[in-house]
Amino acid sequence: MNKKEFFDRIAFQWDKEHRLSKEKKNIRLLMEKFPLSTGNYVLDAGCGTGRLAPHIRRMVGKHGRIIAADFSGEMIKLAENNFTFKNLCFVQSDAQWLPFVSAFFDVIICFALFPHIQDKKLALSEFRRVLKKGGILVIAHLMNRLELNSFHRRVKGPVTKDLLPDEKQMRALLCGAGFLDLSIRDEPSLYLVQARV
Ligand SMILES: C[S@@+](CC[C@H](N)C(=O)[O-])C[C@H]1O[C@@H](n2cnc3c(N)ncnc32)[C@H](O)[C@@H]1O
Repeated sequence: MNKKEFFDRIAFQWDKEHRLSKEKKNIRLLMEKFPLSTGNYVLDAGCGTGRLAPHIRRMVGKHGRIIAADFSGEMIKLAENNFTFKNLCFVQSDAQWLPFVSAFFDVIICFALFPHIQDKKLALSEFRRVLKKGGILVIAHLMNRLELNSFHRRVKGPVTKDLLPDEKQMRALLCGAGFLDLSIRDEPSLYLVQARV
């Protein structure tokens, strides 16, 4: 089974398990740390079944725009059922080959996605391409690196080796892709990277 098939297969269960109110609160608190403002154009990369969308909508308002993308068709189908806002659209696409024009987004959010991306260099160069000058990439998890890596190692299937790089490797990846002003927080129940184009 490849990774896309894995995520297609778990989509229904993922959706059911991840709409708990406790998580909603944690996500809301996490997102207060994101640099989102009214009117921003935001890419939610690896959006799953769309649980970030209402939070992003609240922060960017009706003049912002939210494109939520995921390579799993099953995740996207559920996401489209879950949320419909005028300024939100769901797109089935792989983070490594984004079907968007260059310099389009103010912010890209990778929430619970980054370790799963096969070719991280390729995805980062795509993120950089589609961000406007001054745009910001956010990579976030509600676990720190060690917690997340040990969690993935315990999951059977094609994600078992999907790990967050250590700080030195992460800095090298981001700098190599041309990102500036890197900030990396790796704390209990929080992993948060921000970098600017
Ligand atoms: C752990 S889930 C997180 C989903 C969502 N961000 C959330 O927190 O509910 C990881 C998601 O990333 C997607 N994904 C993995 N690799 C991807 C890639 N290369 N391009 C786009 N989506 C990808 C999966 O299909 C899955 O929906």
